[in-house]
Amino acid sequence: MPEHAATPATTPAPELPDIPFNRTAVVGREMDYVQQAIRSGHPASGGAFNARAAAVLAEAVGAPEVLLTTSCTSALELSAMLLDLKPGDTVVVPSFTFTSTALAFARQGARLVFCDIEPTTLGLDPRHLATLLDDSVRAVVIVHYAGVACDVEGIRAVLADRPDIALVEDNAHGLFGTWRDEPLGSIGRFAAQSFHETKNFVCGEGGAIVLNDEADVDRARVLYDKGTNRRAFLLGQVDKYSWKDTGSSFGLADVLAAYLLAQLEQRDAIQAKRRAVHERYHAALAPYADDLGITLPTVPADRESAWHMFYVLLRDREQRNEVLTSMRRQGVQPTFHYVPLHSSDAGRMFAARETECPVSEDVSGRLLRLPFYNELAAADTDRVVSTFVESVGAAARV
Ligand SMILES: Cc1ncc(COP(=O)(O)O)c(C=O)c1O
Repeated sequence: MPEHAATPATTPAPELPDIPFNRTAVVGREMDYVQQAIRSGHPASGGAFNARAAAVLAEAVGAPEVLLTTSCTSALELSAMLLDLKPGDTVVVPSFTFTSTALAFARQGARLVFCDIEPTTLGLDPRHLATLLDDSVRAVVIVHYAGVACDVEGIRAVLADRPDIALVEDNAHGLFGTWRDEPLGSIGRFAAQSFHETKNFVCGEGGAIVLNDEADVDRARVLYDKGTNRRAFLLGQVDKYSWKDTGSSFGLADVLAAYLLAQLEQRDAIQAKRRAVHERYHAALAPYADDLGITLPTVPADRESAWHMFYVLLRDREQRNEVLTSMRRQGVQPTFHYVPLHSSDAGRMFAARETECPVSEDVSGRLLRLPFYNELAAADTDRVVSTFVESVGAAARV
């Protein structure tokens, strides 16, 4: 404004910037490493940054091999290929999850059996699982929702006399969380990681398959590399490489692995920031929980969360939708989560049979995820909380 301009009689309140649902941050040496990967002359998969990032993950989880993939979806697809599914085989998946958890197995020809979740962790319900097992089941896929381990003890007990069934972890949310000191990602025969921009550690689009059974390593390397034994060749194990098996091009470009490594190097700082955001939300909302009739997430004492997200369960779908709309109108961007897969068009198409998943339906209608990212400042969480509390109050009055 020029100096001589008249000051308006009433100054409008400055418009606050929107608080997005998610925002990625540069946390360390991303730019430097990406440049190095480009200048190396070998920016494709299988380069030095792939090896370094995979080594960090393998060490964290205690796995014999980790292969970086283009996404968590492709890591799940590679898991499905390793299972050698035959016509008539089924795979049990939670209904309350992202499509990839199910689609990777449907794509390899499995029919799906949708299992409900239990209401404490929103992970697979072992009691429902026990009713779903028959001779056709080849695998059970678990998700550690929001970064909190599902009921691993209950699931292991149900599968105790079925060593023929592979346990697969879709660990898109759970990296660096634990269940009774066991790292999430180390529990299944395979675990799939995600480094999509919405996750704790990002490289744009990316993922990894964690191979926890040494017996899978050689074949996984072939399927990973377009069905060839190129990896064995690069490791000096064979003197030429050729086509050996089915497979695809699953490898993450080294340019993206460079981005990922820089993020993984800041693991402690990232997790501490996310934990602090989670704790701020929890502390600020807990005093209102009873009055507002909302449920806050719990982390059972035997688990360490991976601090992937913060969600709230509202009274019903109508209230959740009103709160969502009201908060968005005020520049705060919460979001809902999964539409239960068993009720989706594709879920019905690929299901082995109909199953009932009432908890998934209930939770899906009532769940609201609050903005959650590393750099979310205390002033912003305060604004999210006050907008939320005010919106729930307004929704209760209508
Ligand atoms: C549980 C779960 N599995 C898999 C995925 C897919 O991950 P990606 O985008 O890396 O394929 C997501 C994505 O949000 C997810 O939430």
